[in-house]
Order: sequence, then structure tokens, then C-alpha cells
Amino acid sequence: MAFQPSRLGTKEHWDKVYEEELANFREIGDEGEIWFGEESVDKMVEWTEENTPPSDELSVLEIGSGNGTLLFALVEAGYSRKCLSGIDYSPDAVSLSRAIASSREMQDIQFNVCDFLTEEPPVLPKMTGDTSNNWDLLLDKGTYDAIALGEKDDGGNTPVSRYPTRAARLIKPGGYFLITSCNFTEDELKEVFDTSETGLRYHSRIQHPTFSFGGKSGSIVSSVAFRKL
Ligand SMILES: C[S@@+](CC[C@H](N)C(=O)[O-])C[C@H]1O[C@@H](n2cnc3c(N)ncnc32)[C@H](O)[C@@H]1O
Repeated sequence: MAFQPSRLGTKEHWDKVYEEELANFREIGDEGEIWFGEESVDKMVEWTEENTPPSDELSVLEIGSGNGTLLFALVEAGYSRKCLSGIDYSPDAVSLSRAIASSREMQDIQFNVCDFLTEEPPVLPKMTGDTSNNWDLLLDKGTYDAIALGEKDDGGNTPVSRYPTRAARLIKPGGYFLITSCNFTEDELKEVFDTSETGLRYHSRIQHPTFSFGGKSGSIVSSVAFRKL
């Protein structure tokens, strides 16, 4: 499905959001918005525990990590801070997640400014010698949705069209990609990510509460996992 471009697809929008969230955190300790609510965080953590249990060998990258909520929840579930990395293109998002990490004594989580569509995500310190294409698990909660609202370039290409192959390339063979979206259905996500070009195959889904509307039932958010061949 193609969406009308919106300000949610612009860096200016996210820079403003995180400038405010960072100021709030500094003033009153508010850690900011939990996208799709705590239940979606809990369910993504449960899926991760079942499929990639905590281990010192693991490497996990969150694309568009915002205030870092999902990675903090993984530490609370027993994941080593040294296995976790978050990237975001908004510098204040990275400052906010680092400030929250310090307040929770979780500074070893790596948070870096990086535009996922144009830059290579930095590897973890323990991945020295590895190429950047060696992650066990890539996570996305709301970032693909945001990127899908970006404007087409001069050649008429949407930024989001670059996402699936860029994501797939970073995952090691046998590794996973878990995505939670509110703008795309499970079938739409499968169509885009499970292709011969990405080398990803549908693996599993997370069941979210369903709602009924006009005789159709569906979930407000979809979480789908893919595995690299
Ligand atoms: C809906 S928010 C979700 C944030 C976080 N995943 C969470 O669940 O709290 C989308 C995030 O994607 C980031 N983002 C959007 N486009 C990006 C890009 N090209 N590279 C890196 N981050 C991006 C935004 O700055 C924002 O933090």
C-alpha cells in the first residue's frame, strides 16, 4: 500500500519530537512516548526470548530506536547490554536514549546517530573484525511505518523501497528480523520482506488483540518475524 507523504516521514518532525522529549526528560525525568504501548514491547521481548535467548554471542540492532524503550526492556529480560545497539537519525533521540541509559546504569548499550537508509550502522565493540552484515536480530517498532511516509525522490522512488534489502543485508544467515507496524498488515509486510531479493522468509507472527470493524476483524498493530536463509 502506498501512503500520502506526511510530516511523520520527515527528519524535521522527529528532531522536534525528540528535542521536546529530551527537554522533558531533563526537566521532569519523563522518558517519553512508548510507541504502540507497553504490551507491544512485552510481546516483542517475549518473541525475542523464545527465538534468540540471551547469550553473550548475540548481536541485536534496533532500527530507529527512539527513546530506547525496547532495548531497555531486553536488558530487564536478561539480555547483556553489550549485545544491544540502537540507531536513530535524530541526534536528540540518541541523546535521550543515552541519558535514560545512564540513569538506569545501562550505558553499555550502544546508541548511535545513523540514517538507516544511507549509512552503515556501527558494529558493537565485541563485533571487532566482523563486517556490519552480521547481526543475529534486527528489530523495528514503528520505524518502517515512519519511513513509509517519506516523500519520493526526484527519480520517483520512495525512500521506503530501499528498506527491505538494506535490512536483509545486515542479518547473518539464520538471523531474524522482527517488525511491528501499525500501517501495514501482516500480508503486506510478507509481500515486501519475504522475497528472493531479500533472502528473508516468513518465520512467525505475534498475536495482538484484535478488533472488529464493519464485519472485518484485524489487529491495530502487526508484528511479523522473518528469517534469513
Ligand atoms: C515511530 S518512532 C519509533 C521509535 C522507537 N522504535 C520506539 O518504538 O519507541 C520512529 C523512529 O524512527 C526514526 N527514524 C525514521 N527514519 C529513520 C532513518 N532513516 N534512519 C534512522 N532512524 C529513523 C525516528 O527518528 C523515530 O525515532
